[in-house]
Amino acid sequence: MKKSFLTFCLFAACMPLFAAALLQPGNEFNVLRFVAEKNFMLLPVQDTAPEADVYVVYANGQQGERMKVRLARERVEYYVPFDIKAYKGREISVCMTPVPEGMVCWDSIRFADEFEPLPCKYRPSGHFVPPYGWINDPNGMIYRNGEYHLFYQYNPYGCTWGNMHWGHAVSTNLTDWEHLPVALAPDAWGGIFSGSCVQKQDTVFAFYTSAGARQTQSMAYSTDDGRTFTKYAGNPVIFSNVPDFRDPKLIWYAPDSVWIMVLAAGQQMDFYKSGNLRQWEYLSSFGKGYGCHDGVWECPDLLCFNAGGKNEKWVLFCNINPGGPAGGSATQYFTGSFNGREFACDSDSSVTKWLDYGKDHYAAVTFTDAPDDRKISMAWMNNWQYAPLVPATHYRSAMTLPRDLQLFRHKGGYYLSSLPSKEVQDLPHYEISITVPKKSKAGLELKFSNAAGEYVTITYDFAADTVVMDRAHSGITGFSDDFPVPTAAPLLDESGRYKLSVYLSASSVEAFGGTWCMTNNVYPSAPYDTFTYTATDKSVKVEYELKSNTK
Ligand code: FRU
Repeated sequence: MKKSFLTFCLFAACMPLFAAALLQPGNEFNVLRFVAEKNFMLLPVQDTAPEADVYVVYANGQQGERMKVRLARERVEYYVPFDIKAYKGREISVCMTPVPEGMVCWDSIRFADEFEPLPCKYRPSGHFVPPYGWINDPNGMIYRNGEYHLFYQYNPYGCTWGNMHWGHAVSTNLTDWEHLPVALAPDAWGGIFSGSCVQKQDTVFAFYTSAGARQTQSMAYSTDDGRTFTKYAGNPVIFSNVPDFRDPKLIWYAPDSVWIMVLAAGQQMDFYKSGNLRQWEYLSSFGKGYGCHDGVWECPDLLCFNAGGKNEKWVLFCNINPGGPAGGSATQYFTGSFNGREFACDSDSSVTKWLDYGKDHYAAVTFTDAPDDRKISMAWMNNWQYAPLVPATHYRSAMTLPRDLQLFRHKGGYYLSSLPSKEVQDLPHYEISITVPKKSKAGLELKFSNAAGEYVTITYDFAADTVVMDRAHSGITGFSDDFPVPTAAPLLDESGRYKLSVYLSASSVEAFGGTWCMTNNVYPSAPYDTFTYTATDKSVKVEYELKSNTK
């Protein structure tokens, strides 16, 4: 435990309700009034408590921040900091409603100059993880001046979904992330839902969904390399009455010198264009009858491989929830062409292609303007089926490792392979080579286990051309019946020679098999430090190496 957190604990124990007065106790509208003297007001949270409305009123009667916080009722699980630095020396009233008298939060609100999140053994190294609080989708990912920017759906006031902000971090190597202040906070147009960034000379433009009474699209811009954003005075830039209308992804369409925006609109993707990023013209929609429609379409992306050449190929990402191959959230994609107005799919409408066959890969999008035209994707490493229930302390969820996407062909169709980006290949991982005779009917089980008898298996069935990952005995699984479900991928490769890279962290297994990949979270009592395999047949040859050179 770091010194500053100890300092806070000692301080907190001695100085409850520093310089504060509780007005009107005993009913369901309570006000805490105080002169701000410390940097933070620390709000006590219990994830299972109902949300309370917390809002700040300044001495002149003006309303300040407003947020939903699961204020602790029976026990304090952790604290979240509410930054009051800017109001030092001034009187603030904080209204918390409705929280009945006698709930533990009333005696547990604290004030402190420093805040240090609690440690958690499940924080996955090498991955992006927030310092504290809840995250979901990666947003606005862009490469600029040597830095990868990751914005993300963020609740700084709890470890469950709510109060959507854009958090922000930067990295030069896609593994070590520097946490920066929140980039965008909710406003009168609503919470800041998912979106993307583009850049033009000195300016970064962030497009996001304002989720208020309606879902509308808004813009903010930054002239200091994404460190601070100003919201555009003409927001929102696109209105609609469609209830699910969100997650703008922008690309520059060079042949026509226009910006294209793809938006998830119910069960389809809508395309818009603009020459100035302010006025947008509707172009077309794609999706009716294509792919999986067992859930809401969300978080699009539009990628061009081999731009301008005779092999040009476009890929449209469509994250869908629920409806994933193993239940809940997943990323489907369509391959085809885009002419600046319309996307046309090149496979039969009944075909569904999945980017990752695991259960914990959602809201995948790629970095805009990545060097060398690389298509680097990252996804939220969780599933809406059980996201708020996964074991964690003081934070919830991480992003997947970054992957480089490449096109490959199988039986006349185009598919995407995901391989770990070169920047993360120094992280410890297994490299496994498997050789089987062509048309083999053998089976092979790979097992990653620990001394507590917890394990994850990856099983190849060469007769059925499938691979299955099973985490039923992986550790803590009982928080949701949807969690210990096996995940299966087709083996779109009958060559008989397979390479597999498996990256294990304290709470994730990411398996990259070339034509397939799978991301699944796990919560073992100790890391899996043993690898074994069993083949049904001597003709199956396995070679493996644990690469653990660095970090
Ligand atoms: C996907 C999603 C997006 C939305 C965001 C809200 O996980 O539902 O469609 O913008 O999360 O946090």
